[in-house]
Amino acid sequence: MVVAVDGPAASGKSTVSRLVAEALNFLHVDTGSMYRAFTWKVLDAGLDPKDTAAVLDLMKRVRFECDFVPNAQGLRQVRNLFDGVDPGPAIRTPRVEQSVSVIAAIPPVREWMVARQRELAKQGDLVVEGRDIGTVVFPGTPFKFYLDASPEIRAQRRAADQSGAGVREVGQAMAERDRRDSSRAVAPLKVADDAVRIDTSDHEAQGVADVVLKHIRSRYLARK
Ligand code: DC
Repeated sequence: MVVAVDGPAASGKSTVSRLVAEALNFLHVDTGSMYRAFTWKVLDAGLDPKDTAAVLDLMKRVRFECDFVPNAQGLRQVRNLFDGVDPGPAIRTPRVEQSVSVIAAIPPVREWMVARQRELAKQGDLVVEGRDIGTVVFPGTPFKFYLDASPEIRAQRRAADQSGAGVREVGQAMAERDRRDSSRAVAPLKVADDAVRIDTSDHEAQGVADVVLKHIRSRYLARK
């Protein structure tokens, strides 16, 4: 069983999908972390993310492994290792943040990641968060959610995550990333026709997670 949670940056999907995975005892896959970890690897190798040929060459050479590691709450979350190295918090740095949507727009990189994400579903039931989970990666799942929030709220949330960052600058960088993620040729960010849309602007994450869980339970029972 796969629960797909899509939405733009700082829409609340990470917190909500973790809460849902905890409640259901499912594995948690943050697909953004996979694109970020590969972007980190590209930068660590000294490559220019815009040099597509060099990025694809690295993709062919690098050893990419995913496993599941429990966090302090016992939630099993995907971990990405490139040539045996887990980049950890380095995937959240502004350097990676500025380049990740360039890397994520390269079609063979997406095919590589999507194949890996589908393989993870063989390891158990998943809550998967990203941009194209309900539209491309797992289009057959009946459990699809699209979270969104106003640009102002999203900028405030992201600035709070990056202590010291100004809301205006964070908002501008986020708008640019959203534009690239929504306008790329392959698997752009969009709402699946059959997704449940939830505006999280005025709601706490737990309240949103409860709404998601309610939908999952009623759809699950309806299918039985
Ligand atoms: O969710 P996030 O901010 O960690 O995602 C990082 C980047 O990866 C984001 O700019 C879009 C891209 N991404 C994607 O293209 N497809 C996904 N399924 C997940 C993330």
